[in-house]
Amino acid sequence: SLVRHYKFNLVLKNTTKICSSKAIVTVNGRCPGPALYAREDDNVLVRVVNHVSYNVTLHWHGVRQRQTAWADGPGYITQCPLQPGQGYLYNFTVTGQRGTLLWHAHISWLRATVYGAIVILPKKNASYPFPKPDKEEIIILGEWWKADTEAVINQAMQAGIPPNVSDAHTINGLTGPVPNCSPQGTYTLHVEPGKTYLLRIINAALNDELFFQIAGHHLTVVEVDATYTKPLTTPTIYIAPGQTTNALLKADQPPAKYLITVSSFMDAPVGVDNLTNYGILRYPGTPTAATMVLTSPPPLNATAMQSNFTASLRSLNSKQYPTAVPLTIDRSLFFTVGVGVNPCATCVNGSMLVGDINNVSFVMPTIALLQAHYYNISGVFTDDFPAAPPVIYNYTGNPPSNLRTMNGTKVYRLPFNSTVQIVLQDSAAIAPESHPTHLHGSNFFVVGKGLGNFDPNEDPKSFNLVDPVERNTVDVPTGGWTAIRFRADNPGVWFLHCHLEVHTTWGLKMAFLVDNGNGPNESLPPPPSDLPKC
Ligand code: C2O
Repeated sequence: SLVRHYKFNLVLKNTTKICSSKAIVTVNGRCPGPALYAREDDNVLVRVVNHVSYNVTLHWHGVRQRQTAWADGPGYITQCPLQPGQGYLYNFTVTGQRGTLLWHAHISWLRATVYGAIVILPKKNASYPFPKPDKEEIIILGEWWKADTEAVINQAMQAGIPPNVSDAHTINGLTGPVPNCSPQGTYTLHVEPGKTYLLRIINAALNDELFFQIAGHHLTVVEVDATYTKPLTTPTIYIAPGQTTNALLKADQPPAKYLITVSSFMDAPVGVDNLTNYGILRYPGTPTAATMVLTSPPPLNATAMQSNFTASLRSLNSKQYPTAVPLTIDRSLFFTVGVGVNPCATCVNGSMLVGDINNVSFVMPTIALLQAHYYNISGVFTDDFPAAPPVIYNYTGNPPSNLRTMNGTKVYRLPFNSTVQIVLQDSAAIAPESHPTHLHGSNFFVVGKGLGNFDPNEDPKSFNLVDPVERNTVDVPTGGWTAIRFRADNPGVWFLHCHLEVHTTWGLKMAFLVDNGNGPNESLPPPPSDLPKC
């Protein structure tokens, strides 16, 4: 294995999209930022220097960070931010992982423009467990606001209302054709007849779950969140923020222009973002005037299609890549996830939206939890995060009136190497809504999923303990539940949150504290000497 060196300079860059310009925070002046390439088991060193006036941290989303919790990156969870002028060396090894992931800023809303791909290739002499593609292509999906995104979220927080939705979606930074605006770049995938392409599709959007289609072609999913899956052939890929999907595309259609669409999946009651972005797949020699073969994007609220797609994914579970789902569980947790309303004297409407898990709305500390844990600093967090909601009710019916959330910086303590099951239930406190939920520091297995209320007596009988898909981000379906399992074999503090940034901002987040074990490689190593201080 090799050591891969990267230099990430955080710099402002004046950028024009959809007929308006603003200065954005970027890595090395680029948005999307540079792709990180490594092979499985390589050591990755990213030297980050902050040349902007914001506090920044970077997160390597989906990298397991075994024994390297200090490099995970969520602000005030594993580290204090890099202040203007500061640098930090993120040092981690991509052990036992291969596939596509993403990196992004993990503080406030800076990931709107600070993001990029992570490509982990198989080990030197290993091959893919599917036919070797002729070419590979990164397709990274994002969102664009005309306004400064820090101002967008600050205003929303002060008013207690949903923030403005984005003004455009992007594919590799390109917005495609925009009405009333001179032509912008349109993403074009040039293919040669007969060749097979591995598309590395990444959803780096803040708040939009997406459907991805290429007209006239099927896509065969072979990997999600850097874990191999059984091949799943589909015309439509659903992908949530934080998720990555590798799919094979065979260029086997007559030469023509084929539309690519990236459309929203959103059944939320507020702040609906229904923009669609367009790209084009082209065969060589297709006249510019050739007619376009069109997609048929699902409707905005295609809930059944979304949950069928995610429920159809299976881990590969081959001899070489076995599925290590825990068969017994030491900790059984039930988490309601949702957004509700609390009174707010200083807010414009006298109330504000709050995100919560088990009625606890997470309050960001002012010292990173991992530092507080390591140095035994008291008063930063409490370890009384509830294992179940305080009020049991009909989660998918009318919520009771006593649902008011409490604020707290609470963690749930997990003994080293314990096996954990979490049933994530959409609490539908205002209305049913999908919550793509992300866990740091571990992948998990998605053992079950359903609509309505989880039934603790019946539903576990149909759990898949053979080939459940392994992921780091999973949708909790609208008005439904998802059950996940993992092994807490990585000492540290690990964030769990909805990857819709607006929900995270409102408090839909918590953290696990995984205690040290007793073996030689089971305890949290000391922090690197350049770890930023708060
Ligand atoms: Cu992709 Cu906690 O984040």
